Amino acid sequence: MEPEINPPPRAIPAEVLDWDSQFFGFKVGRAFDHRLSRESAASLLAWGRLNGLRCLYLSADPTCPQTLHLAHVAQFKFVDLKLDFEIRRSEMRPPPEQASFKKVTDRDLPALARIARESHLETRFFMDSNFPSIRAADLYEAWIRRDHAQHHVFSISDSTGSPPMNYITCQLDRDALEGRIGLLAVANEARGRGLGQALVQAALDWFWKQGCHCVRVATQGANVAAQRLYQKEGFRTASALLQYHRWF
Ligand SMILES: CC(C)(COP(=O)(O)OP(=O)(O)OC[C@H]1O[C@@H](n2cnc3c(N)ncnc32)[C@H](O)[C@@H]1OP(=O)(O)O)[C@@H](O)C(=O)NCCC(=O)NCCS
Repeated sequence: MEPEINPPPRAIPAEVLDWDSQFFGFKVGRAFDHRLSRESAASLLAWGRLNGLRCLYLSADPTCPQTLHLAHVAQFKFVDLKLDFEIRRSEMRPPPEQASFKKVTDRDLPALARIARESHLETRFFMDSNFPSIRAADLYEAWIRRDHAQHHVFSISDSTGSPPMNYITCQLDRDALEGRIGLLAVANEARGRGLGQALVQAALDWFWKQGCHCVRVATQGANVAAQRLYQKEGFRTASALLQYHRWF
């Protein structure tokens, strides 16, 4: 029998997520550790109850059988496989020029919000039916609006002046000189014509010009189209985590 792995006990095993809690209208939290012991699983559940959580997120290490077993026993619901990809500047191919890659404006937001509502159906908020699907769609609309307010949202437009049919959101950590792609989508009717690839290439070019040495992006294990797109641009898998929700 495998010896039990005991992550060092934490006085506080999780945190309340204010943005998620406010958005969904009930308390949502996130476990700090990726591995569970019997003690830490029990303390997570006790902490969740004590703090009045409705939903607790757990990102679990898929290589730890004990964690998977204890997550099952503690009634955590599997909702996604999260893959994190990264590319380093040294691995980068020079991108082609994208003259029509521009920061979006307030006027573009309604069109982008529509695309956001329809484009992220493979994510854990749609997969977990405990979240009403209307709220999951609202979440992605709120997300694109938040990224527009707090980060950098770009799109590639055509020459007709019609609203953009695509977006990519870019977050910059100026201290660590690292970038992160948040959301990427092309409207259903415009897919398969190279726009997704052009967005990723132009975003990478933008990140390198900001001085980043590394760019990361996360996607779902089931999202083969996105994985192939990132792999085509030179991204490589950096980590894989199983996503669980524990409902109280
Ligand atoms: C992923 C997405 C952005 C791709 O946009 P797109 O404009 O259709 O993609 P492109 O035409 O530029 O294709 C580029 C590459 O992506 C991959 N790809 C795109 N669509 C694919 C599909 N349906 N199946 C498999 N691979 C696909 C391929 O590797 C393709 O290159 P290839 O045609 O030479 O094989 C688009 O499908 C989308 O918006 N999906 C919903 C939102 C989403 O999943 N976002 C990513 C995670 S946040």
